[in-house]
Amino acid sequence: MNRVAGKVCVVVGGAGGIGSAISTGLAGEGAQVAVLDRDAEHGRNVVQEITDKGGEARFWSIDVTDAQVVERVFGEIAEHFGTINVLVNSAGITGSHARAHEATEDDFDKIYAITVKGCWLATKYAVPHMLTAGGGSVVNISSIMGLVGGASLPLYHGTKGAVRLMTKADAISYASDGIRFNSVHPGPIETSLSVAAAASDPLGKEEYMRRLLSNVPLGRRGEPDDIAAGVIYLASDESKFVTGTELVIDGGYTAR
Ligand SMILES: NC(=O)c1ccc[n+]([C@@H]2O[C@H](COP(=O)([O-])OP(=O)(O)OC[C@H]3O[C@@H](n4cnc5c(N)ncnc54)[C@H](O)[C@@H]3O)[C@@H](O)[C@H]2O)c1
Repeated sequence: MNRVAGKVCVVVGGAGGIGSAISTGLAGEGAQVAVLDRDAEHGRNVVQEITDKGGEARFWSIDVTDAQVVERVFGEIAEHFGTINVLVNSAGITGSHARAHEATEDDFDKIYAITVKGCWLATKYAVPHMLTAGGGSVVNISSIMGLVGGASLPLYHGTKGAVRLMTKADAISYASDGIRFNSVHPGPIETSLSVAAAASDPLGKEEYMRRLLSNVPLGRRGEPDDIAAGVIYLASDESKFVTGTELVIDGGYTAR
């Protein structure tokens, strides 16, 4: 019930399938939660769900690619809650399935802006508050696709690999400041993002899912709560000696 009690946690992409499970999970463990997303309708629903259960949360509308907006929103969060202790970067899109020679410059810029630049911008404007607080924890949601290659979604693979190594570099840079950085690598999780990726794959939804799940030893997709459980651990002081690690939650996909 109180694994992150007293901590102010910011969840970027907090309206999404995984982000909403993280937001409600952190609030259920006693955190005050700032839910950030460009999807205001679902974001406000997440906050309502938390407050209905007696938790404390507030929604901010944000486009994580817009530096001015990110700077303003993180300032408002610190003013509202008094500080920022935990940042979770969960905003993302899967983008184009096109291979390198077929993808457009726009395909590239769009996915790198949200996944890579967005992760960096949120970190840039959260860290000063953590330095003032004397420490903190940043959890970046990468993917199994940031660990291994694959023919589907090549641009997405590149962005998730970048998130993985940004996390490790920041873990080392900020270790002496008491700010921990870790990445989480989900396997296939049932959310609108994975449904959309399957539906837009040239193989067709059924064949895409069949091939994907045939590589998961546990034989099924995971649930958003499976990822939230790992994030709560990394946000909490239970993981106080853990930084620069990659927590893989994938039903065994990368074990083979
Ligand atoms: N679902 C999976 O199978 C899976 C697997 C591995 C990794 N992931 C990663 O987990 C994270 C969450 O994915 P999800 O499955 O919950 O998807 P989702 O689509 O349900 O959630 C993503 C959220 O990001 C938000 N978002 C997108 N662009 C934004 C922007 N510019 N500014 C602010 N918010 C923005 C969306 O509105 C959405 O609420 C993503 O980083 C994704 O890459 C998902």
